[in-house]
Amino acid sequence: MGKIIQKRVLIPKRVTEMTIKAPVIASKARPGNFVVLRLSMKGERIPLTIADADPEKGHIVIVYLIMGKTTALLDTMKEGDVILDLCGPLGRPTSIKKQGTVACVGGGTGIAALHHIAKGNFQAGNKVVSVIGARSKDLLLFKPELEKISHEVLVSTDDGSVGHKGVVTEVLEEYLDRDPDVKEVIGVGPVPMMRSVARVAQPYGIRTLVSLNSIMVDGIGMCGSCRVNVGGEIRFACVEGPEFEASQVDFDELMMRLQAFKSQEKESMELFEK
Ligand code: NAD
Ligand code: FES
Repeated sequence: MGKIIQKRVLIPKRVTEMTIKAPVIASKARPGNFVVLRLSMKGERIPLTIADADPEKGHIVIVYLIMGKTTALLDTMKEGDVILDLCGPLGRPTSIKKQGTVACVGGGTGIAALHHIAKGNFQAGNKVVSVIGARSKDLLLFKPELEKISHEVLVSTDDGSVGHKGVVTEVLEEYLDRDPDVKEVIGVGPVPMMRSVARVAQPYGIRTLVSLNSIMVDGIGMCGSCRVNVGGEIRFACVEGPEFEASQVDFDELMMRLQAFKSQEKESMELFEK
């Protein structure tokens, strides 16, 4: 349990994929679930979405953006090394039913997390339209994997190096204009993107979900660190989410809470880099 089977650099110095031996987690993991991992006895716990799971091999796949001390430390680990603590699958799985066309919207590293959800929708017999965006062509993840399970993959890049020049929600809006049969939209990515997904989809009256990346510690509903404001109520993303109805989410509060430990995170990263 926790042994790194394969490590693949997806974007040098930025995004890495790890396949990890975790038979119990792999046998239970559903799209939308995540794991919480810890690398040392005094280390912080971080949540990472399960990007894929193979119950037969007993493997799960995680994809992480190297953005702080823990992910930088994780990135020093090699194939054969063992992750100290790996807890999961956590969170409520995505509620997937056969319903027709589902637009799966992913931004940046969020595309990796979106992949498992898109795959689950494909396996349920839905028509998956993947709408993915990154800052540039080199930062676009999982396009070939999504092509295998999607009816269409629509792409945007901020710099126009591939696909539509602009943000991913512009492509979503254009798609929703031309396809009246979309039954559900699901967005995974940076908070400003998810807020924009909520805003763009609302006029169409389509059920729209976003997967919230709030700070988590225990991941099992005890510490309260993952609390988010949804529809004016405090909800714990780890046990009641991470997916919530997009129009109900207070994105400003989420953004503020994500900044809560920025100075400590910066200091910790600087010490790590010394
Ligand atoms: P990024 O900042 O490079 O943005 C990726 C794409 O998102 C952009 O190219 C654009 O198309 C879209 N986007 C960004 N801001 C937008 C806006 N205001 N309106 C519309 N579209 C917008 O993304 P990144 O640096 O790869 O993202 C990392 C962030 O994603 C981290 O904060 C991470 O926590 C988060 N993330 C979230 C999840 C999740 O479960 N929600 C999973 C993985 C990563
Ligand atoms: Fe502790 Fe959700 S992470 S309550």
